Amino acid sequence: MIILSIETSCDETAISVVEAKGSAESPGFSILGNACFSQIKIHKEYGGVYPNLAKREHQKNLVPLLIEVLKESKFFKLETKDEKLPTEIEKILEREPELLRQFKEFIPTIEKPPIDLIAVTTGPGLEPTLWVGVNFAKSLSRVWNIPIEPTNHMEGHIASVLLNRSDESGIKNNESRINYPALALLISGGHTQLVLIEKPLKYKILGETRDDAAGEAYDKVARMLGLSYPGGPEISRLAKEDREKRQEANVWRLPRPMIHTDDYDFSFSGLKTAVLYRLRDAKKITNSQKKEIAREFDDAVTEVLIRKTERALRNYDIKTLIVAGGVAANPNIRESFAVLEKTFSGLSVLFPTIKLSTDNSIMIAMAAFLRISSKQETVIPIAANGNLSFSNSAN
Ligand code: KG4
Ligand code: ZN
Repeated sequence: MIILSIETSCDETAISVVEAKGSAESPGFSILGNACFSQIKIHKEYGGVYPNLAKREHQKNLVPLLIEVLKESKFFKLETKDEKLPTEIEKILEREPELLRQFKEFIPTIEKPPIDLIAVTTGPGLEPTLWVGVNFAKSLSRVWNIPIEPTNHMEGHIASVLLNRSDESGIKNNESRINYPALALLISGGHTQLVLIEKPLKYKILGETRDDAAGEAYDKVARMLGLSYPGGPEISRLAKEDREKRQEANVWRLPRPMIHTDDYDFSFSGLKTAVLYRLRDAKKITNSQKKEIAREFDDAVTEVLIRKTERALRNYDIKTLIVAGGVAANPNIRESFAVLEKTFSGLSVLFPTIKLSTDNSIMIAMAAFLRISSKQETVIPIAANGNLSFSNSAN
């Protein structure tokens, strides 16, 4: 099955063409084409993502990225016949004028590619940006007569670990396999969740953050330290430099919020305040103090994530632990979680590749395939939902 996948939930406009084979239990994926436009440079100036700016960028970039990905997958052929677009397209894209303009100009000139399914992220994420992708998917679906699979972004992060053994350009038979019951620690810019997966597509959220998400905390603390957006990679870089320079542990300590509470919830906003006090007390902060703070913050987040995950591993008979989402790109977190394979016998720990940790459309194609091949009917409407959760996806 050949899947065209579209992701616009935040600040990455991404489209892929993925060939999926096998079953939900034993899938195999080949990446035929992958095109992504990251808006990070645009949002850097503001220190965060501006939804309306992001929406405009998605509108501008979707058609060029589609052409790029079709060329890469060798599915790009110009059509000679001059067919008019169905009038409905005007209605579907009425809120995306720039996308409508490009759609009208280019899409009728492209021959229908041999694609079996269009997968599109419907949520969670920024609702205005999600709609751009959803309306684009609906328009393509109408013109080319290809079905759509609405896809949950977080389910995409879970599926991202299935491609962890080799690089993203043309993997044939990946070996990583999720055994059940599985546990997913999802750590991204918008989410921090521990999710029990008893069997494929059967989710139960055990706990989540009560305030900031882990990635959000990295971004906010980075901003306080004068580092650029997104803050996670910056903090982990400084933390690494500090660890290389000083063997000994930090003298100055941050709290480990909720580390001993009798639940699976998290709280990261207190860390931000503690860093603020530290900066206020120090008045002028040196580069080496900055590195020390980055390292201590990185350690505090990692320790809380590990302890809460261990608690769930002890209480459920977990076979596979999935650590996914943008924050899973963090080397300290990856190393610390990899060790759990030694402490919990029979446990395998899966991470996505670094590239597939942060938002991408390959994971959306993989999640859509798992859903399609498990033959569950999709009952949710094809509409963007910024707060889409596992409980209101079609389970
Ligand atoms: O999954 P993602 O790309 O987008 C969302 O769905 O939110 O995650 C983005 C988050 C950002 O907050 C970013 O700072 C964080 O992932 N991140 C990291 C690292 N790389 C990205 N956090 C910690 N360490 C990293 N190396
Ligand atoms: Zn994400």
